[in-house]
Amino acid sequence: MPALADQVILVTGASSGIGEATARRLAHGGARLVLTARRADRLQSIARELDPGGQRILVVAADITLATDRERLINEALAHFGRIDGLVNNAGYGQRGPLERVAVDAIRRNFEVNVFSLIALTQLVIPHLRSQGRGRIINIGSVAGRIARPLSSVYDSTKHALEALTDGLRGELLPFGIDVVMIRPGYIASEFAEAANAASADALDDSGPYASYVEAYRKGYSRKRRFARPPDAIAHLVERALTAARPSTHYSGPAHARVFLFLRWLLPARWFDRFVRLKR
Ligand SMILES: NC(=O)c1ccc[n+]([C@@H]2O[C@H](COP(=O)([O-])OP(=O)(O)OC[C@H]3O[C@@H](n4cnc5c(N)ncnc54)[C@H](OP(=O)(O)O)[C@@H]3O)[C@@H](O)[C@H]2O)c1
Repeated sequence: MPALADQVILVTGASSGIGEATARRLAHGGARLVLTARRADRLQSIARELDPGGQRILVVAADITLATDRERLINEALAHFGRIDGLVNNAGYGQRGPLERVAVDAIRRNFEVNVFSLIALTQLVIPHLRSQGRGRIINIGSVAGRIARPLSSVYDSTKHALEALTDGLRGELLPFGIDVVMIRPGYIASEFAEAANAASADALDDSGPYASYVEAYRKGYSRKRRFARPPDAIAHLVERALTAARPSTHYSGPAHARVFLFLRWLLPARWFDRFVRLKR
């Protein structure tokens, strides 16, 4: 792949957290960027700060779940820069709650954002990367793509789906010079927890049989979030994946993420269940 300064990179979910940190890091490396998310004001102020001249960053406010928005996003990116070299599929959120209590529509919505919209956007970008004979697709998965936890089976399933998608697509696109890379973050300090709580309010509002689990989940989650590291811990992995001559197939970070993945690989399933179980 060429140096960052010669690349046009599209970053989804760029209005906060990992996507914003990725935009900052790639902009400092000289890349030209297409930043997208729903909150236009956030995107505009990030772009103004990183690119006061307004030449190197294009902002396209879009809801990734809408086909018309996805098409407009790609059309505007190509009209502005004439090419796309990299796609960072980062937009996503976490649906929580006991499976029995999560409305099927809420489950569909989480798959819509984390999986189907990502697939549909990737389908729009592939022909351009293919015609250029090179490109990179970076999928922001999660440790939750390898580990599944009580009260998080919906979100964890979306990230498991992304693992298979990434592995399959990697072989499919290799002959065209396109690399597909999975990045598996652990706990990262972003707006993720707030977004997850907002999406999951109904499912977590339980005074019935799951009440004590929900309480244990809330306490455990805030305890675990103390491990959280700044989003740049992941942005720097994205930069590596975009610039390495031969990128790894998977990157994970921060260090605690690699420990979780190692324990998952090492321990029999029932032992690992104890590691992630919620005490009532
Ligand atoms: N934080 C963690 O601990 C953690 C751990 C593992 C994996 N991850 C993954 O990392 C990715 C980024 O999360 P984050 O931690 O940076 O959380 P975040 O701060 O909440 O960022 C999520 C981003 O996704 C965008 N988004 C959500 N729904 C969208 C939609 N329908 N259309 C367009 N954009 C949408 C949001 O923008 P708007 O609201 O402006 O649309 C926002 O920019 C996610 O895929 C998440 O699953 C996070």
